[in-house]
Amino acid sequence: MIDKRASRRLGLLTGGGDAPGLNAVIRAVVKAAVSLNIDVVGLEDAFDGLAHPAHARVLTLRDVSGIHRLGGTILGTTNRGNPLARRPMPGADPAAYAVSAMVGFRQLDLMAIVAIGGDGTLAIAADLHARGLPTIGVPKTIDQDLVGTATTIGFDSAVAFATEAIDRLHATADAHHRVMVVEVMGRYTGWIGLHSGIAGGADVVLIPEIPFHIEKVAERVRERERWGARCSIVVVSEGACPAGGSRSVAAAAAMGREERLGGIAERVAGELQEITGRDVRFDVLGHLQRGGTPTHFDRVTAARFGAFAVEIADRGEFGVMVALQPPGLVTVPLREVAGRTHAVAADDELVRTARRIGICFGD
Ligand code: F6P
Repeated sequence: MIDKRASRRLGLLTGGGDAPGLNAVIRAVVKAAVSLNIDVVGLEDAFDGLAHPAHARVLTLRDVSGIHRLGGTILGTTNRGNPLARRPMPGADPAAYAVSAMVGFRQLDLMAIVAIGGDGTLAIAADLHARGLPTIGVPKTIDQDLVGTATTIGFDSAVAFATEAIDRLHATADAHHRVMVVEVMGRYTGWIGLHSGIAGGADVVLIPEIPFHIEKVAERVRERERWGARCSIVVVSEGACPAGGSRSVAAAAAMGREERLGGIAERVAGELQEITGRDVRFDVLGHLQRGGTPTHFDRVTAARFGAFAVEIADRGEFGVMVALQPPGLVTVPLREVAGRTHAVAADDELVRTARRIGICFGD
């Protein structure tokens, strides 16, 4: 077990897919740490940074000045899968990886690691903590699919972008009497689809948690035409799946990497065109949802999570994720977060609200 109270140096890393707001968390951690006389050591490319301590650097106030508005992450990131998993990628050695992480931790003379990441990163943080390395997680993912927290860094910004895209598609769809199908990210959960669909005034929202029937979607399009609607907007989450059918996979899982989803909008658009005979187009928002400047909500949450992470590190609370459970911040044990997914429940209040305002889920 590592003596976590001797040092006043906090390791900081970002892991998994990037998301708007990561740099805002980094800035908040550094600012809060400086005020408590704690040094922050930035580790490059997620936990790999522990194996390459030579690349680590102390982050100064100057390093983080003004970065709260920048997308991406100044520390770099990876999402190659979990190197500590029982069945890791071929050629990987979980025991050796854990040892090199410990060695790097000692070499850098750290008191703990603050890991900003999604399910994969938090699972690694939980595992390393169980092996004796003090870790604190900060929840980040545009998918908002983590348990224990009401939001995750990046989700609000991704939804804001998707909503603006839907607004733009509305204008062109209306001009041409078209049906527009727009594919959003979210992996196996429909939070981005649900929120952007409601905010963007979509007529149909297809999410992974509610298998859909394409005939029901076509019927909604026809029904709208009957009362004179000039266009219809279908928002489809990348993980959405037809009842009795399969998800659209752009690339199968390989080399420790998860499968890459994609292609459902094209499928839905093709089938809708065939059934309705209408002019149907599709767009895939893809990684545009991950880039760009964070919203004010993500920036404020980043400030709260970053400052809180430093506060709990200072009081020696480890093996936890900081979380928003309105109205306040709490800590949740990492072991309760790792390996679990927060999906949209079929009777979620937001799903019921969407149905009440006429959104069709294709079920
Ligand atoms: O988890 C965030 C996310 O953007 C998902 O919504 C998406 O399925 C996945 O990452 C894409 O990953 P990659 O950047 O590896 O293509």
